[in-house]
Amino acid sequence: MSIPYGQDTPLLDTLISVATDAARQAGAVLAECTRNGFRIEHKQIINLVTDADHQAEQRIIDVIHDAFPTHRVLAEERGLTEEPPSRYKWVIDPLDGTTNFAHGFPAYCVSIGVECDGCGIIGVVYDPTRDELFTAQIGHGAYLNGFPISVSKTDHLDRALLVTGFAYDIRETPNNNLNHFVRFALKVQGLRRTGTAALDLCYVAAGRFDGFWEVKLNPWDMAAGVVILREAGGRVTDLKGAPHSIYGQELVASNGPIHQAMLDLLQEDAPPS
Ligand code: IPD
Ligand code: CA
Ligand code: CA
Repeated sequence: MSIPYGQDTPLLDTLISVATDAARQAGAVLAECTRNGFRIEHKQIINLVTDADHQAEQRIIDVIHDAFPTHRVLAEERGLTEEPPSRYKWVIDPLDGTTNFAHGFPAYCVSIGVECDGCGIIGVVYDPTRDELFTAQIGHGAYLNGFPISVSKTDHLDRALLVTGFAYDIRETPNNNLNHFVRFALKVQGLRRTGTAALDLCYVAAGRFDGFWEVKLNPWDMAAGVVILREAGGRVTDLKGAPHSIYGQELVASNGPIHQAMLDLLQEDAPPS
């Protein structure tokens, strides 16, 4: 009989320590690449990938497979590994914020989430530029460098600092988030676009932002951050307020009090269903 993950604290502790080790090692790979240089390739016209993405991803996968050889891995650059069925799936973005990284703009991170039976149970996000490590395991709270974090108490959009982002197909599709961006810009205290969705989620968790939305994310952008945000007391849904899935592209993440106001504003721009 399998043990429900919530009762298996030693396993959760091992998972988070392996995820932390992998994230720190990948962060060291990224730091080394900034010192020694890296090659840039274009996946599409504005969608880049660098040597650093590939090297960091390989390091993470090596660390995971040393500790858990049978676990499945979904990594941005490599895709899903075809392992035998396992209850555990690691969902990895080795470098979230590649455009920033390629330009030397210090806003990027390593993001590692773990699912058990399809439910996010571990989130680890490491920002090597500030040496900030965000961690959470289900039911045990969220932490920044070992200290507990929690969401803000801001309860009105007029006083809220929000963040969003845009997908790489911004030029090709009308569902490019620019409509929402314009509407929010006129309603909130401040609106940012950092270029790293995983860190955006952690910053909502830490109370630095009050809310975040995006319309076309990938599972690896969200897997770790949503666990961290929920454990910090935040709320995550899709754009209509329905339960969130990291496989569903959309995300509205907030401190809770401003969530409905964000949903209302997003619905004003929604295409008729
Ligand atoms: C991107 C970043 C960005 C978000 C994009 C993502 P990448 O990830 O998270 O903030 O707006 O949608 O694709 O390509 O830098 O790993
Ligand atoms: Ca990403
Ligand atoms: Ca990436």
